Amino acid sequence: MTSGVSPQDFAKRLDATAADTETLLQRLLSDTTLPGEIARPHRLMDAMRYSSLNGGKRLRPFLAVESAAIFGVPRESALLAGSALECIHCYSLIHDDLPSMDNSDLRRGRPTAHKKYDDATAILAGDALLTLAFDIITRDEVHKDAGVRLALTRALARMSGLGGMVGGQMLDLAGEGRFGDKETPDVAKLQQMKTGALLKFGCIAGALLGQAPKVQYDSLDAYGHAFGEAFQIADDLLDVEGDAAALGKPAGQDAALGKTTFVTQLGIDGAKARLRDLLNQADSALAPFGAKGDVLRAAARFVAERQS
Ligand code: IPE
Ligand code: IPE
Ligand code: MG
Ligand code: MG
Ligand code: MG
Repeated sequence: MTSGVSPQDFAKRLDATAADTETLLQRLLSDTTLPGEIARPHRLMDAMRYSSLNGGKRLRPFLAVESAAIFGVPRESALLAGSALECIHCYSLIHDDLPSMDNSDLRRGRPTAHKKYDDATAILAGDALLTLAFDIITRDEVHKDAGVRLALTRALARMSGLGGMVGGQMLDLAGEGRFGDKETPDVAKLQQMKTGALLKFGCIAGALLGQAPKVQYDSLDAYGHAFGEAFQIADDLLDVEGDAAALGKPAGQDAALGKTTFVTQLGIDGAKARLRDLLNQADSALAPFGAKGDVLRAAARFVAERQS
């Protein structure tokens, strides 16, 4: 199915959500302490701001905002949930780039957090963004019903933690063979966990906030599943075919580190074919929403065709 949202309209909507996310994150990362906090150390705040402001496509908040829009959820609520998710994403990037992980020097076109500051500050900035995310997602302004906030919080924990993003990072490192014999990992599972889980949270956040019936929740879950895998295949292809200037991060890293990806398993053409299949899957998952799914349909095309 073709989407009724042009690439230009899509870009405008993504820009608007990115700008709103930036404003909200600036407010959430202000120097003012919250009740219960003792102090917000300057160096830590600087490193958190450095790693989460002024950059990034803000795709995860966008998914939260646009999935919530299907159910008429107020934009402010979805933006808060999306900003919590973005905090977790930014923390995952800081830790992913550390010398003991992917050892990257460039992120979002700038030196990585540990290069700009030091390893310890980068680790702590990641830790503090992770805990801030849970502070944000539990706030009353996210939803008036505490049961909804609890469901969101639990989903965010499960998609971020050992059975989601963190677990996937473990499988990704193990797949390099750095802990002993190199065993070929289950790439679909690895990618679903390390990258897909957070993107999927963005998609189901709207259904949870909108207290959607199970069948609609399941449709967004299926869309998020296809979207997440498509996103990481595109990332792996860009690592081979893209360049650092456009990406704002190093290219060619996966091969240098001996990562197992869909590109190493299926080859470039095979990975592109799988990407096309996933776009069709994402479209089909959105069918029950009709025209209300158009923006999410365009989002799937955007991630498949992106150059950065
Ligand atoms: C990069 O994610 C990390 C992966 C999960 C592959 P993005 O490509 O969404 O990074 P930003 O937020 O736009 O910098
Ligand atoms: C990172 O995957 C996934 C997470 C940060 C959880 P990659 O290692 O492929 O991401 P990039 O390519 O460094 O952005
Ligand atoms: Mg990595
Ligand atoms: Mg990396
Ligand atoms: Mg990558």
